[in-house]
Amino acid sequence: MERTFAIIKPDAVERNLSEEILERIESQGFKIVAMKRTLLSKAQAEGFYDVHKERPFFPSMTSTMSSGPVVLLVLEKENAIADWRKLMGATNPADAEAGTIRKDFAENIERNSVHGSDATETAAFEMSYFFSQTEIH
Ligand code: CMP
Repeated sequence: MERTFAIIKPDAVERNLSEEILERIESQGFKIVAMKRTLLSKAQAEGFYDVHKERPFFPSMTSTMSSGPVVLLVLEKENAIADWRKLMGATNPADAEAGTIRKDFAENIERNSVHGSDATETAAFEMSYFFSQTEIH
C-alpha cells in the first residue's frame, strides 16, 4: 500500500465540486485516510510550494491557493502516487486527457482544481506538512 497527498483547490471548492471529486477518488479504489477542510494562509501556501519559489508564477499561484477553502487529503492505494496523478490529468488542463479531473473541471493551469504529490519523498513531506500521524487512519 502506498500513500499520497492531495488537495482539492479553492477553484473547485468554490464551484461546489468537492463531493464529485471525492466520489471519483473513492470510485477509483482510493481510501481517504485523512481529510481536512481549511483555509490556507499565504505563508502556509508559500511553505508548501517552497520548491517553486523561484518560478515567476509563485506569487500569483500562492495567492490563488490561499484565496478560499481547500480540502486536504491523504489517499491510500497500491500505486497511489502514480494512480492519483493519472486520475488528475496533466497540470495544464489544455493538455489533460479526456475523463481526467483537470480536463473536466480545471479552468486554467493555475486554477487547475486539484494537486497531487509527484514522488515518494514529496508525498512524505506534503502529508507531514498538514497532518500528524495521529490524524491518519
Ligand atoms: P500543482 O500540481 O499544485 O503544483 C504547482 C502548481 O503551480 C501547479 O499545480 C499549477 O497550478 C501551478 N503552475 C504550474 N505552472 C504554472 C504556470 N506556468 N503558470 C501558473 N501556474 C502554474
